[in-house]
Formats: sequence, structure tokens, C-alpha cells
Amino acid sequence: MQKKTLSDISTQGKRVLMRVDFNVPLDENKKITDDKRIVESLPSIKKVLEEGGRLILMSHLGRPKGKVNPEYSLAPVASRLAELIDSPVLMAKDCIGTEVMQQVLALQDGEVMLLENLRFHAEEEANDADFSRELASLGEVYVNDAFGTAHRAHASTEGITHYVQTVVAGYLIERELLYLGKALQEPERPFVAILGGSKISGKIDVLENLFKKVDTVLIGGAMVFTFFKAQGYEVGNSLVEESKIELALTILEQAKKKGIKLLLPVDVIVAPEISADAAFYAEKISSIPEKMIGVDIGPLTAETYRNEILSARTVLWNGPMGVFEIDNFAFGTMAVAKALAEATAKGAITIVGGGDSAAAIAKAGLATEITHISTGGGASLEFLEGKELPGIAALND
Ligand code: 3PG
Repeated sequence: MQKKTLSDISTQGKRVLMRVDFNVPLDENKKITDDKRIVESLPSIKKVLEEGGRLILMSHLGRPKGKVNPEYSLAPVASRLAELIDSPVLMAKDCIGTEVMQQVLALQDGEVMLLENLRFHAEEEANDADFSRELASLGEVYVNDAFGTAHRAHASTEGITHYVQTVVAGYLIERELLYLGKALQEPERPFVAILGGSKISGKIDVLENLFKKVDTVLIGGAMVFTFFKAQGYEVGNSLVEESKIELALTILEQAKKKGIKLLLPVDVIVAPEISADAAFYAEKISSIPEKMIGVDIGPLTAETYRNEILSARTVLWNGPMGVFEIDNFAFGTMAVAKALAEATAKGAITIVGGGDSAAAIAKAGLATEITHISTGGGASLEFLEGKELPGIAALND
């Protein structure tokens, strides 16, 4: 990585302002249902605390639209973090202002506080200069470890870097760039990418970028029906992006020209409706009945995809194969999750590009059997599209 990291600086005795992505899911009782993002931030947090830095953490939570809303308070995160580090975490009432500054200045070496939700101020998302400067005044060095928010040019991720001299990446960002970056730059081959999701339009930029590196692409999710329609198949009531049919053909041609093995399902699971109790069965793609909806890849496809995944040295997965939130339609997604775990055990590097696929791996109970699961949803997608992430670009080279 071309960016300075926490390893390059000493934080002893310094006020360290660290942007983390603690945008975690909460249930109706404000209980955190998945603390992965907090856990993945621990190496950076511990490094600063153990070194005797004075740590000021800041994050957003949800989308409170620039207004104070207790629903989106980071207080539950402070409690969880305190449990994880077995040490008190001071929860601030705001993220700027006199009181916050006083609390910051009273911090002792090795102590940590968490600022209240940055998005309670509209200036955060507006990347407002004054707000950025005010945040910057809290710290002497700035660490960005919020990979999940690195695609946003906000005050706490981009604006702030203009007002602090030392701006470095944390260990979580370093790890994300190591795995996602290596896959895109110098993957061990064969390199197999699995792309799912409902729309070609949401994945076209990823596909085009991956075409520069990948040996094989396995396609799943509802976007396969736009490909099938383009190839002249009847797809019943399955989701089709009519405006992307031409694009689907172009993608198939491009893959052929570049010598990329692009596989589409040979069978799919069909159901009359997308509901938990709908009847369902596997069907060849040439015989999808008029009123049926394709909801998952079929067993023959899952077996073929498994074999491709097991023959790879690098595997990258982004997007589910079907409507995996419904157990009856989760088979293909779970099969891919299991194949990734098997490939990891055989020594392959397996990378999951955040969002739904990360949730699927968690649902399969295989999170510890994958080389790297990104903490970024939108951020990992943009990274895989080859876009520059403003929160990372702004850090010291
Ligand atoms: C995420 O969950 O993807 C990040 O925290 C960014 O959140 P946002 O999409 O609300 O900016």
C-alpha cells in the first residue's frame, strides 16, 4: 500500500482522532445484532491504547439526515466497545463544541472516548470546511480506519485531512486494501470471481474492471435472467432489466474476446411467488414456465460453480445467488459459501466483498473459514469497480 499507516507513527501521549465505521445493525431494543465492524476495528484501537495514546473515536450510525435523533445514538456502541476492550469508554454528548473539547483535553494516556453520531450535523455529509476544521482541532494526529465509509467524501473522512498534518490509515483499512487490492492487482491464478445480485446495472462496472484480471466469472442472482432474455430464452415472470439486454450481449461478447470463461446457470429454482411458503422446484433454463419466477441457481449449477471455485487459487465473491433471506431459496448462496470455505481450507485466498454476501457467509456460519470478509458494502463495491475512494486517497502517501 502506498499510504502511511498506524505502524508508521507513534501515538504515545498524543490525542489520536480516529474515524471508524461503527455503523452497525441494531434491533428494536438497541442491541447490536452484528458487531463485526467494531471487532475489526480493535487492532487499531488497541495499538493506540497500549502505546499510551489518547483516543478519540468518531463514527456515523445510520442516516439521521443532519438532525439529532436519539434513535441513532452511538451509546450502545460505546457499551459494546467497553466490553470488548475491557475498559471504560467515555461517551460524548456531541462530536463538536466546548464540552466535547473539554472532555478531550481531560483524556489521559491510554484512555478512550467515543464522539456522538457525526451525522447529527448536516455539515458532516456536506463535507463542510468549518465543521472539518472543528473536528480536526480535537486531535493531533488523524487515523482513518473506516473502510466502510471510505467511498464517502465527508467532513470526517476527507475534509478533515486538510486540517491535520499526520493523516494515516488504520489496520482495518490496511487489511482491506491488502486483500481487495491484491486480488485486483496480482491475484494468484486461477482467479475466479462470483458475481450475484439482482441487476446487471449494479454490477456492470465491477464486471468490466474484473475482466482485466479474472480467469473465470460465475454469474448468479436475478441478473442472470437479463442474460437469458438476451440469449432468447423465456424467463417467465423473473426479473429482467429490459434496458440492459443489449449490454448483457456485449458482456458475453467481451468475455469471449478476452478469453474469459463466463458461466451462467444451466438450471434455476423457480417459484410462483417470492414468499417463504411458495412451492418451488429446479428447472432447466430452457424450460422456465410462463408464470414462474427464478429465485435461485439450481443444483446442477451449484455443483459446476463449486468445482470451479475449488480449482481456483484466488476467489472473489460479491452478491448472492438467490433470494437467500428466504430459507427455501438460499440453497445456491449457501452452496457458494460452503465452496468458498472448502477452497480456503485447500489453500486458496478467498475474499468476500461485503454487504449481502458477507451476511450470507454469516448465515452459513462460515465467517471464520474465509480469508477475508470486507467490512465495506458500497465501499468494497466501488473499490472493485476500480474507483478511487476519497477517504483513502486523502491520506499521507
Ligand atoms: C455502510 O454501511 O455501507 C457505510 O457505513 C456507509 O453508510 P452510508 O451508505 O449511509 O453512507
